[in-house]
Amino acid sequence: MKAFLIEESVKKLEVVGKPVNRVDALDKVTGAAKYTADLYFPGMLYGKTLRSRYPHALIRGIKIGEAEKLPGVAVVLTAKDIPGEKRFGVVIKDQEVLVSSKARYLGDGLALVAAVTEEIAEEALKLIKIEYKPLPVVSSPLEALKEESPKIHEHGNLIKSYRVRKGDVNKGFSESDVVIERVYTTQFVDHAYMEPESAVAVPSHKGVVVYGSMQHPYSTRRVVASTLGLPLSKVRVIQTNLGGGFGGKDETASIICARAALLAVKANRPVKMVNTRSESMLESYKRHPYIMRYRVGVSEKGEIKAMEINLLADGGAYASTSPFVLWRSTVQATGPYEVPNVEISSKVVYTNNPYCGAMRGFGSPQVNFAVESIMDELAEEIGMDPIELRLKNAFKNGSETATGQVLNGHVVSIRQILRKARETSNWEGKRKLYKVQKGRLRRGIGIACCYRGVSLGAEGKDFAAAYVNVTEDGGVIVACGIAENGQGAKTVLSQIAAEALGVPVDYITFLGSDTSIVRDSGPTVASRGTIMGGGAVKEAAVKVRMKMAEVAAVILKTQPEKIIFKGGMVYDKENPEKHISFKELARRCYKKTINLSSIGWFRAPEIYWDEETGMGTAYFTWVYSANVAEVEVNLETGKVKVLRVYAFHDPGKVVNPKTAKSQVYGGVAMGIGYALLEDYKLEECIPKTLNLRSYRLIRAYEMPEVIPVFIENPDPVAPFGAKSLGEPATEVVAPAIVNAIYQATGVRIRSLPVTRDKILKGLKER
Ligand code: MOS
Repeated sequence: MKAFLIEESVKKLEVVGKPVNRVDALDKVTGAAKYTADLYFPGMLYGKTLRSRYPHALIRGIKIGEAEKLPGVAVVLTAKDIPGEKRFGVVIKDQEVLVSSKARYLGDGLALVAAVTEEIAEEALKLIKIEYKPLPVVSSPLEALKEESPKIHEHGNLIKSYRVRKGDVNKGFSESDVVIERVYTTQFVDHAYMEPESAVAVPSHKGVVVYGSMQHPYSTRRVVASTLGLPLSKVRVIQTNLGGGFGGKDETASIICARAALLAVKANRPVKMVNTRSESMLESYKRHPYIMRYRVGVSEKGEIKAMEINLLADGGAYASTSPFVLWRSTVQATGPYEVPNVEISSKVVYTNNPYCGAMRGFGSPQVNFAVESIMDELAEEIGMDPIELRLKNAFKNGSETATGQVLNGHVVSIRQILRKARETSNWEGKRKLYKVQKGRLRRGIGIACCYRGVSLGAEGKDFAAAYVNVTEDGGVIVACGIAENGQGAKTVLSQIAAEALGVPVDYITFLGSDTSIVRDSGPTVASRGTIMGGGAVKEAAVKVRMKMAEVAAVILKTQPEKIIFKGGMVYDKENPEKHISFKELARRCYKKTINLSSIGWFRAPEIYWDEETGMGTAYFTWVYSANVAEVEVNLETGKVKVLRVYAFHDPGKVVNPKTAKSQVYGGVAMGIGYALLEDYKLEECIPKTLNLRSYRLIRAYEMPEVIPVFIENPDPVAPFGAKSLGEPATEVVAPAIVNAIYQATGVRIRSLPVTRDKILKGLKER
């Protein structure tokens, strides 16, 4: 099987690599696609959540009597009505579907109401009486670490810490000609997906069916089942069309599904819950703000001798995926460079801010901003071109990472990418041109690059499942545990199935995610959809094809190894005039009672990580990227206009140039927001903005020209060589912009987002 799959990955591709239209495009643009909020069931009720009035408070009592009496109210529930586990959490079970004795942030839920209309449910919330005892808040991670600060959880305010030690940093610094130390900070960021969280729960078969907007139906199933005290098999989770996730609809986002399910089972009626935008912005988890101290030493020739890195992240009220996010930040903190001496210490802590978790990049946008900024600051110090300095230190095949992983088994393409970036963007010409400028508007060009571990690494068990069924008329039904999050998974996985079966892509019908059809495949996160889901789909399809090849060999009077599947036809390789159509072959297989369905199971290669020493194989393979940004800054107003972003990515193999480009366009839009606009501000743990008017996202007319450039080095482990793109697309946009702003203005901004005020202040101090 293995040998068979490897041979597959090098053949000439017919469907993979082609700009196939998205299979869900027409439904989405015509409005035919149904989202969770569009679902209606007979007798359906509407659920609402009562949330805490204080970011930190003891709950002394909850009185629901008045609410229950309101006509139209079916049920009112509090924590004591939860039949199963009260707590949940991906790594640490520190979160409650409804809090029982203590609220730890403003988004915490205290009670649920289901009523015949949304208005009545909201009215009922107002009738619930809560007796609070407000507690002092912990509003920053620095405060959280102080001995005298309140303890947010019984186990203290530290969620997780890591250390990486390699070589001897003191020796490295003493060998350096230049040593600089800088602090960089980043902000809270909301995912701002188009569709707020939503769920519809329908009681069924002594269990429940949950329809919802989630990235990870299997973890939703886990949380719903444990909350209700049901076996997994009695909870069926069906993913509805999803209006964006970006990491924000991962495991801990299943809270809305668990609440809807609780209400539905208690009321014995379907219950719909849809968060408003402000509920979403209040309750949903955010991208972690980081405080990052970097000390880096280089020789005058630009060889990095040592990096000492200290990371402190605000995890907010609950742990969620914080330990995994921080782990990725830690192992990737040095950037794609050979550093002989490394010391990294990292911590993520509890505060009474909104809890933080997965968001596109998953711990990389923060450290990439820091390391790629300090690389530019170092280049300036030693008078070297920023790309030259990066090329001097960038990984090669066989290089060793900060955690001692030797990069082999795939093409380490970061140098190839940097050279391509230099050439394509006319880097040298523009750097020179922008050095001499006069007047109010100043332009600059900047670069940033990265390497990214593919899939989960030590974050979890890495596998995916798929199901392929060829019907008797030659149609192909495909299902996979990987979810369509709007990223194009259905299309890309359909192409992989079509390629493996040698049929046109319109033969494929791709089913949505349903936990009762396909085995748990892990979360659709970590840019793992194509490599893991594709691996599983391909294996299932190849198994079916091998069965069909045996029947074809009998019909065409040859051996199964000589049978070729291509363009919906099945040939004898040596006598192509001997052929049969795929559809006819499927019919013959059916007559012969051959089972043309298979399960594919793809497992990532083993990795090894030692938490004590911080050493190990962090990820089984890696991808490499660089962005070049050109900006124009108005020296009078401080306004930054991004003119152009070149995005260079090596995803292994581009399965679909259209969906790949759209990943890049969206990633750049998010990256610009991170760099210049988005800031979820809080004061004493109370958010200053709960709408998308004051929480500024980039608008369509503000988008610059985006030029995606793909460099392909197929990975032998991956299906047809295809690895990852989703998160790389966004994770080096901000530092490229910040570096370009520096060239334009001489102002170095070390805290995101870059506002006009920060630029004007910098210009004054220059
Ligand atoms: Mo993600 S941020 O791994 O969905």
